[in-house]
Amino acid sequence: TPPALIRNFCIIAHIDHGKSTLADRMLQMTGVVEERLMRDQYLDRMDLERERGITIKSQAVRLPFTPSAGPDAGTTHVLNLIDTPGHVDFSYEVSRSLAACEGTILLVDAAQGIEAQTLANLYLALDHDLQIIPVLNKIDLPAAQPDKYAAELAHLIGCDTGDILRVSGKTGEGVAELLERVVSEVPPPVGDADAPARAMIFDSVYDTYRGVVTYVRVVDGALASRERIFMMSTKATHELLEIGVISPEMKPVAGLGVGEVGYLITGVKDVRQSKVGDTVTLNARPATEPLPGYREPKPMVFSGLYPLDGSQYSDLRDALDKLKLNDASLTYEPETSGALGFGFRCGFLGLLHLEIIRERLEREFGLELISTAPNVIYDVLMEDGQRHAVMNPSEFPTGKIASVREPMVRATVLAPSEFVGAIMELCQSRRGSMRGMDYLSEDRVELRYTMPLSEIVFDFFDALKSRTRGYASLDYEPTDDAEADLVKVDILLNGDPVDAFSAIVHKDKAYSYGVAMASKLKELIPRQQFEVPIQAAVGSRIIARENIRAIRKDVLAKCYGGDITRKRKLIERQKEGKRRMKTVGRVEVPQEAFIAALSSD
Ligand code: GTP
Repeated sequence: TPPALIRNFCIIAHIDHGKSTLADRMLQMTGVVEERLMRDQYLDRMDLERERGITIKSQAVRLPFTPSAGPDAGTTHVLNLIDTPGHVDFSYEVSRSLAACEGTILLVDAAQGIEAQTLANLYLALDHDLQIIPVLNKIDLPAAQPDKYAAELAHLIGCDTGDILRVSGKTGEGVAELLERVVSEVPPPVGDADAPARAMIFDSVYDTYRGVVTYVRVVDGALASRERIFMMSTKATHELLEIGVISPEMKPVAGLGVGEVGYLITGVKDVRQSKVGDTVTLNARPATEPLPGYREPKPMVFSGLYPLDGSQYSDLRDALDKLKLNDASLTYEPETSGALGFGFRCGFLGLLHLEIIRERLEREFGLELISTAPNVIYDVLMEDGQRHAVMNPSEFPTGKIASVREPMVRATVLAPSEFVGAIMELCQSRRGSMRGMDYLSEDRVELRYTMPLSEIVFDFFDALKSRTRGYASLDYEPTDDAEADLVKVDILLNGDPVDAFSAIVHKDKAYSYGVAMASKLKELIPRQQFEVPIQAAVGSRIIARENIRAIRKDVLAKCYGGDITRKRKLIERQKEGKRRMKTVGRVEVPQEAFIAALSSD
C-alpha cells in the first residue's frame, strides 16, 4: 500500500471510557469481523484481560475503509488501529504504541468527563506530535452530559466545541463519521523507501505455537519474508520466517513497506530477544542509527513471592520462567526468608502489574502463594562510601549510613472540587509536596504532587478512593529520586526478628507502623504454651511491644482477623483441610497469620 493511503492511529482514553467497545465497532463497520463472529472486546485476547475488562497488551489491526465523502471519497484506505494499554504501569508500552502512529482519538466518556489517564495520555500524545481527534463517547447514556464535557475538552486542548465528535461505541452512532475524520485529519506516514530498513517494535507477545510474535511499524525501507533481520539493541540476527498483517487474524504477506504495520515471526522463544522499543533492520544492509526512544523496562515495585507449600518451589520457578517469555519487564531472583522459606524476590512495573502476575501464577499455574508487602528500591550510601541497592527491606544495611535515597513520582489527581481538602490532607500525610492545582471546570480540579513511590505503593489508591467516594482518578510517572530520613523497622517474635515483616519507613512514621503491626500480630497469632512478646524495633531500640498471653490447653484457638476479600479468599483456601504452622524460634505461627498480616489494609 502506498503511504498516501495509510493512516496509523490509536485510541487513548481513561480506563473504562470505552476504548475496546469502540474498537469492536470499528472492526465490525469495516467488515473485518463478520457479524456472527463478533464478540465483545475482540482485541483483548487474553482471558484475564477480558475478565478484568482492561487491556494489558497492545495489538494492531488493519481496517480497510473507503470514505464516502470528501476529497478521498471512493478510495480504499488502510487504517491501522493500534490498541494501547490504558494503565499507568504500562506507560512505556503506551508511549511505544503512540510512536507508531501519526494520529490519535482522544476518547472521553460523556458521562464522566476528563480523568487522570485522559490527561496523562494526552500529554504523551502531544509529546509525540500526534494529530488529536477529540471524541465524546457513550452519548447514548441517559447520564451523558455532552455539552458540559465538550466545553471541558475544548478548553483542555484548545479547540472549538464544534470540533468534538459525539459517538456511541455501543450503538455505533457517529462511528462512521469518526473513521472519515481519521482519513481526513490523520497525516499519512512519511519515510524514505530507499533507505536501509528501520522498523520499530511496539509490542512483542509469546505464543505457545508460534513463538514470539513481534509487532512492528516500518519507518524506512521495507522488510520481506525470508530476509535476515538484525535487532539493533540486542544485536541478534534472525531469519524472518513469516511477515504479515492482522485483520483480525494473522495473514502472511510478502513484505511490509514505509508506514505499514504488521507482525514478524522469527522462531524466537523469548520476548527479551525482541524488545519493545527496539529497531529492526536488515542484516544485509543495516541502518546506522536506531530509531529514537528505546528504553530498558525498569522494575519499580518489589515483592517476595513464596509458595504456601514449600514443595511447589520448583513449580513456581518454572511458572516465572514461562511468564517471563511473555513479559520482559518481570524480574525475579531466588531469596530465602527465615519465616517463609524459599521463594523469589520479584520486580514489577507497578502494583497492577504485580497483581496481574500474581493472579496468573495462581490461576494459570495452580500455585498458592504468599506475597510480602510491596516495597520500592532504595539507594543506600554508607559512610565508608559503599553503595547498596536495597530491594528487600530485610537486607537494609545495619552499619553507619550516610544517606538513603528513594524513588519519587509526579502524581496527578483529578476529582470533583468538593474533595480538594480531603485529597490535600491525604497527600500531605503521604509526604507529598504540591506542585500545582488547576480547575478544569467549575467543579473539577486537577492536583499535582511530587510524592515518594513507596507511599503510593502502600494502599494510596484505596485511601484516595475512599476519601472521594470513588470519584478521584490517579496517574503518576517516575521522576528523580530524593533523599529521605528512612529507617528499618523490625518485628520480633519472642525476641527473634521475622524478616518478612521488616519494613522501611520514614522516621516520623516508624512508631505508628510498629504499634500497628504489633497489635495486628497480637490478634493474628494464637496463644502458645508460654508468653510471647511481640516487639517492634528500630536497630536495637524497641519502639512498641505487645504480649500474647500463655495458655495451657486448646492450642488451636482461632482468633484471626480477616475482612478484606483477598484475605478471606486466601484464608478459605487454606481451610481446605490443611493447616500449616511455621515455627519462628519457638513460636508456632499459622500461615494464615502471615498472609493476613502481610495483606495491606
Ligand atoms: P480498558 O480496556 O479497561 O481501558 O477499558 P475500555 O476503555 O476499553 O472500556 P470498555 O470498552 O471495556 O468499556 C467499558 C464499559 O463501558 C463497558 O461496560 C462497556 O459496555 C461500556 N461502554 C462502552 N462504550 C459504551 C457506549 O458507547 N455506551 C454505553 N452505554 N456503554 C458503553
